[in-house]
Amino acid sequence: MLAIRLVSGPARLDTLVLPIRPVGPAEGPDAPAALATTASPPPGDVLAEAAALLPAARLTGRAGELREHLRPGATPQRLVLLGVGEGDERDWRTAGAALARAARDETHITVMLPGDASTALRGLAEGLLLGSYRFRMTEAGGAPALAEVDVVVADPDALAPTLTAARTTAEMTRLARDLTNTPSSLKNPQWFVEQIAAAVAGLPDLRLRVREPGELAAEGFGGILAVGQGSASGPRLVELDWHPVEARTHVVLVGKGITFDSGGISIKPVPAMKLMRKDMAGAAAVLAATLGAAALRLPVRITTLAPLAENMVSGSAFRPGDIVRHYGGLTSETTNSDAEGRLVLADAMAYAVQELAPDLLVDLATLTGANAVALGKRHGALYSENDQLAADLLAAIDAAGEAAWRMPLPADYVEYLGSELADLHSSPARGAGSVTAALFLREFTGDLRDRWVHVDMSAPSWAEEDDAELTRGATGWGVRGLLRWLPTLG
Ligand code: BES
Ligand code: MN
Ligand code: ZN
Repeated sequence: MLAIRLVSGPARLDTLVLPIRPVGPAEGPDAPAALATTASPPPGDVLAEAAALLPAARLTGRAGELREHLRPGATPQRLVLLGVGEGDERDWRTAGAALARAARDETHITVMLPGDASTALRGLAEGLLLGSYRFRMTEAGGAPALAEVDVVVADPDALAPTLTAARTTAEMTRLARDLTNTPSSLKNPQWFVEQIAAAVAGLPDLRLRVREPGELAAEGFGGILAVGQGSASGPRLVELDWHPVEARTHVVLVGKGITFDSGGISIKPVPAMKLMRKDMAGAAAVLAATLGAAALRLPVRITTLAPLAENMVSGSAFRPGDIVRHYGGLTSETTNSDAEGRLVLADAMAYAVQELAPDLLVDLATLTGANAVALGKRHGALYSENDQLAADLLAAIDAAGEAAWRMPLPADYVEYLGSELADLHSSPARGAGSVTAALFLREFTGDLRDRWVHVDMSAPSWAEEDDAELTRGATGWGVRGLLRWLPTLG
């Protein structure tokens, strides 16, 4: 990962990056972008030169706009004018990502920040670290050369915690992306467990417990076992606990961890199956966020549950018409083995409610294709009975540069969850798909019914192309939002 260093003056001048912004409407529609004021003045004659360049460069100053200017024989050799828009965190994140892409062939760059730099630094650092992310299973094509970024600020020590928060957030988002991008030939439940165990080993005071199929059977995790029974790679339940002594709030995070979703006996058609290695993005996000919370030593207790299973087609697979007995005893009739996510989540949620009795319960899942039908490609669908909790989490998600939209839990569809044979029907044929899935999960929240949030994040978990700090492929959606929200619980 790119090294970012805070400095009070430029130490090494190869490429110097100066922020520019749009001018106000008072200066006229064709006015060129203006240089943003930086904490310390740019060295030598650079400021005058940049000012002289601006009228000719036809730049708007919008976030992520970028122009490189060569200065033969001079120091620095290259001057980059970088649009930072209105200068809020989101704009700086976009600018940072654009800079990481444009400067990929440099080895070292220096960026000058405005005087009041905390917001700018958080955005710039996350943008640089997330925009430079790439996932390859080959060495071919070459890695980006950019290794070091010096950031010039007035008071490096005062900003160190901001940089740490940004770096941890980006590092954990990158971990979630790596896990989600990994092909399912490698990524079975046991492999996933090993990756988490390795990450846990690098951090103090985390407790990891992994249940194997025998223990899952002994304790009655029927949903996880049913979904996992068709695969040669057995299911697991990960339980990761971060328990600082000063914690006053206990939150349980649950993430869907289907390491490949073929649909099972209700097999998916080719186009729908193509990306189903990503069906564990919820588990990756909640586990990575928990690792981040431990790295930042956030004063909140977090227990994270990740039911991991591979939904496969085979002679031992569970069948449409089977009745599943979930943790705690509720039964569900399943007529579509492709509605597997809610079965594994139901077990984990019932366990959380009955055995852990937390203050808050949050689950993230790539649960339905209907998420994208309702909300498009960037918004998660957020469900909660609790207005305050929903508002707080939505605000954190937005502040972190992610997006979600609150959805209703309407009474009209509850009747569709009825089954003649079991307590519940897990895949009703009627109703809005993302909504009925949420209503099914609600049945497992017990006492926590109004202290629960569910986010269907199948749409924003993946990006079809590079877009600001998102890179093509897994986005790591949820890590950033959770790492903004968790500190507010302390
Ligand atoms: N993993 C899928 C949901 C999904 C679809 C995620 C597209 C990402 C992109 C989930 O297990 C699933 O198959 N859901 C079904 C539910 C239906 C069978 C009730 C769906 O959305 O079609
Ligand atoms: Mn499915
Ligand atoms: Zn699935």
